[in-house]
Amino acid sequence: MQNTKDYQSAFLNYLETFSKVREPKNLYEPVHYILNLGGKRLRPVLTLMSADIFNCDYNEALDAALSIEVFHNFSLIHDDIMDAAPLRRGQQTVHEKWDTNTGILSGDAMLIMAYQLFENYEPDIFQALAKLFSKTALEVCEGQQYDVDFETREDVTIPEYLKMIEYKTAVLVGAAMKMGAIVAKASEKDQNGIYEFGRLLGVAFQLQDDYLDAFGNPETFGKQVGGDIIENKKTFLYLKALHFLGASEKLQLEQLFSVNLKDNQEKIETVKQFFIASGSAKATQNEIENYTKQAFSVLETLSISEEKKMQLQQFGNALMTRKV
Ligand code: IPE
Ligand code: IPE
Ligand code: MG
Ligand code: MG
Ligand code: MG
Repeated sequence: MQNTKDYQSAFLNYLETFSKVREPKNLYEPVHYILNLGGKRLRPVLTLMSADIFNCDYNEALDAALSIEVFHNFSLIHDDIMDAAPLRRGQQTVHEKWDTNTGILSGDAMLIMAYQLFENYEPDIFQALAKLFSKTALEVCEGQQYDVDFETREDVTIPEYLKMIEYKTAVLVGAAMKMGAIVAKASEKDQNGIYEFGRLLGVAFQLQDDYLDAFGNPETFGKQVGGDIIENKKTFLYLKALHFLGASEKLQLEQLFSVNLKDNQEKIETVKQFFIASGSAKATQNEIENYTKQAFSVLETLSISEEKKMQLQQFGNALMTRKV
């Protein structure tokens, strides 16, 4: 097995050959822009790592890895429109730099490009990848719809929230890993096992994303800190705080989340205080750890060496302490 940096640089070299600006420029420039803004490249790294773990030359998984990253970046362009987000990876979002229509169409083109990349595989692999991709992409749409629906609902439960993040985020992490296993022609049991590992890690990943959205360092986070609070997102932080707070504070927090306040900074600070004082910030961190540990327990079912399991655990542990 290689280290994360090796997978990352193999991926970046491959990306360079892919992302060329063509005519019409207003369609392809935003594609090039978002794909080259950086980012952690978590999903493609996981695809390559998974192919490698199941004993295949990981270069064979580069098209699948690229497909996943192109899809992810498409979903970010549309997500930033939906979340009215100004910043992505420390730069202007696509709809801010261009406009909303550009974001919609360039995003659509990326979704198609993501599919197109599977054409580089033989029919059996093509079919397995396309089938997984279609199922996953539809689930991401479902998760995104729940996320938006929840903004204006006051009775969101924690199980509903967990389902929402499973769909909008975790299934894609699972699929990224399963694609590597498909390319490597791993057994069905191992394919499903690595999917489950990725899915659980993905839930932890989104919980952490929500945590950082409130408590990240604005200098380095790359997104607008407090964006979820401004948009009244029903995150684990928020739902747990409601659960822990006494009646009058609970009402105050609910009220803050029932309006779109002009003085955002004050709202953000007040809400963050509620998150900390109620114990929900701590509970979120515990939940991140719980899901990461659940992911690790799935590793036991995989037919891979102990050394590879350890390496996957190291990766999971590193994700837990991430700051971006
Ligand atoms: C952001 O994903 C969207 C989520 C699902 C949380 P990442 O945190 O992986 O974003 P980049 O690609 O590293 O910028
Ligand atoms: C993103 O969730 C999920 C998808 C893009 C499908 P968020 O809205 O929390 O992601 P960020 O925080 O904007 O990256
Ligand atoms: Mg968003
Ligand atoms: Mg969103
Ligand atoms: Mg977020």
